[in-house]
Amino acid sequence: MAKILVTGGTGYIGSHTVIELIKAGYEPIIVDNLCNSKELVLDRIKEISGVRPKFYKVDVCDENKMREIFKNEKFNDIIHFAGLKSVAESVKYPELYQSNNIGSSKVLLKLMKEFGVHNIVFSSSATVYGTPKKVPLKEDDPVGGCTNPYGQTKLDIECLLKDYAKENKDANIAILRYFNPIGAHKSGLIGEDPQGIPNNLMPYVTQVAVGKREKLSVFGDDYNTPDGTCIRDYIHVVDLAKGHLAALNKLKEKPGLVIYNLGTGKGTSVLELVHAFESANNIKIPFEIAGRRPGDVPENYADVSKANKELHWKAEFNIEDSCRDSWNWQKKNPKGYEE
Ligand code: NAD
Ligand code: UD1
Repeated sequence: MAKILVTGGTGYIGSHTVIELIKAGYEPIIVDNLCNSKELVLDRIKEISGVRPKFYKVDVCDENKMREIFKNEKFNDIIHFAGLKSVAESVKYPELYQSNNIGSSKVLLKLMKEFGVHNIVFSSSATVYGTPKKVPLKEDDPVGGCTNPYGQTKLDIECLLKDYAKENKDANIAILRYFNPIGAHKSGLIGEDPQGIPNNLMPYVTQVAVGKREKLSVFGDDYNTPDGTCIRDYIHVVDLAKGHLAALNKLKEKPGLVIYNLGTGKGTSVLELVHAFESANNIKIPFEIAGRRPGDVPENYADVSKANKELHWKAEFNIEDSCRDSWNWQKKNPKGYEE
């Protein structure tokens, strides 16, 4: 069984990917400092997959502890999910976002070189495209103009990886630009567990459905879109997880550095998502139209033809499936992973 280092593996996307890795015969070694996840996730992974992955409660920025892990575990592949991801928090604490997100990536690259580890998959984001001039977004469309420090860290790490690939001809790097992950494993045992008031749309909707919040505020209905609300590309987290397996397979072909959008290729408006949730789950979601949220772009969805063709990967779940699975997770875990 091939060992693989998974940083941030107890988080939302990481935990779903660990399940797929185990299914595919990998032995995931998880490193997470639990700043935004719970150790209980490991029990849930075991319940689903039969395997409780090896776990190190370590900060990836801690070079010495990470060196020990590289020394002891001996793996050839890394998936780097670990990072802070709140846009609002990043505006408040930009240095924290830089030191954590960029710092952890630098440590990994340094140790990859030291230990001759060649393959890494990195969690980037559609946020690197800034305000798109046109949609759907293609991988070679311009990046930059990030409106917040979180997005800027993703762009900076992409640059670090590109420089590393130039200097290290043996390196194989997949930069995956995620669009909007939603949904949960069909068992309802793992899912997204935001701390405090959710910033993102789907966890807010599910918390309204479960009675934790009174109503959803729809941020703006006066955009230049068919129903006036913003359009995004919502991808089921299990499809996203499978995209990582496809990317790992690509790295075995020794491609150097590759970049892929992971999305569905289909845009869905805020109101369409609310209505899909209502019809998939037979629940009413009370909402009001509120003002625009600063920094929101009207329309953002992926051209996924490159990933479809080169990774032989395609998102399979539709928006109703995602709404059903998000709700299944929320209703089985009304307080998230809190006991
Ligand atoms: P998450 O917060 O659920 O998972 C991230 C995990 O990383 C958490 O378990 C956290 O405890 C851990 N972590 C953070 N800093 C760490 C450090 N220095 N050392 C060790 N562990 C650390 O987030 P997620 O939604 O699963 O996102 C995973 C990755 O994908 C992140 O890099 C995020 O920026 C990126 N991403 C997420 C989205 C999204 O909408 N969820 C979109 C685009 C990109
Ligand atoms: C946001 C971040 C982005 C990050 C992504 C994943 C901003 C500006 N962008 O993207 O950098 O990569 O999350 O973490 O924060 N909405 C409502 N009501 C709500 C919540 C959201 O109407 O209570 C709307 C938003 O205005 C947006 C859509 O729903 O039009 C999706 O919002 P969200 O889930 O926060 O994702 P993004 O804005 O695409």
